[in-house]
Amino acid sequence: MKFYKKLDLDHDLWSDIHRQMTQIIIEDYGIPGEIDVDRVYGCINNDLFLERVPAFKIFMSENRIEKLWIACVALTKNVRAHVDFSRGCSSYQEFQNKSLDRRLAINWPIYNVAQSETAYYETLENDAAVIRDNLLINFEENKLRKIDSFTLTEPTMLRADLIHGMKVFNDKTRIIFSTRFQQDPIHLF
Ligand SMILES: [Fe+2]
Repeated sequence: MKFYKKLDLDHDLWSDIHRQMTQIIIEDYGIPGEIDVDRVYGCINNDLFLERVPAFKIFMSENRIEKLWIACVALTKNVRAHVDFSRGCSSYQEFQNKSLDRRLAINWPIYNVAQSETAYYETLENDAAVIRDNLLINFEENKLRKIDSFTLTEPTMLRADLIHGMKVFNDKTRIIFSTRFQQDPIHLF
């Protein structure tokens, strides 16, 4: 099974996207190197995001992606193993019914990504899941087995509906943007 795919992006376009996204981090959260937090997720107004990251609009049109569904920024040290719902717009019920419509996210590395690892897991025991809220299901890691992993050092499309987690191997905060789309851009996966 495929869990992720590194995108083959034009170098200049990615460097524009990276610069514009970094500007948001600087303006909204302070200088990346000075951020020391455990966990911040910020959902960004889509229209504002597209205005502030015009290179991202170019990425969308070049890749025939019509509508951004959500853009958010994650400032984290570690992320416990979990399955995402579509961030609030779907429910655990939909997940169980397998009617979750959005499975793919594109994650964009911004800061302190090289010393991190995103891992995928399978469950070893049936009771590994801990339902926490309507946003995601958490899992107990001692009831999981790691089956794949990668380091988010370039823009990567990944399955958000399969069990995944992230670890940072230094004491800094890792910063990424995550985007989802009205329709999963399955043609890029
Ligand atoms: Fe996730």
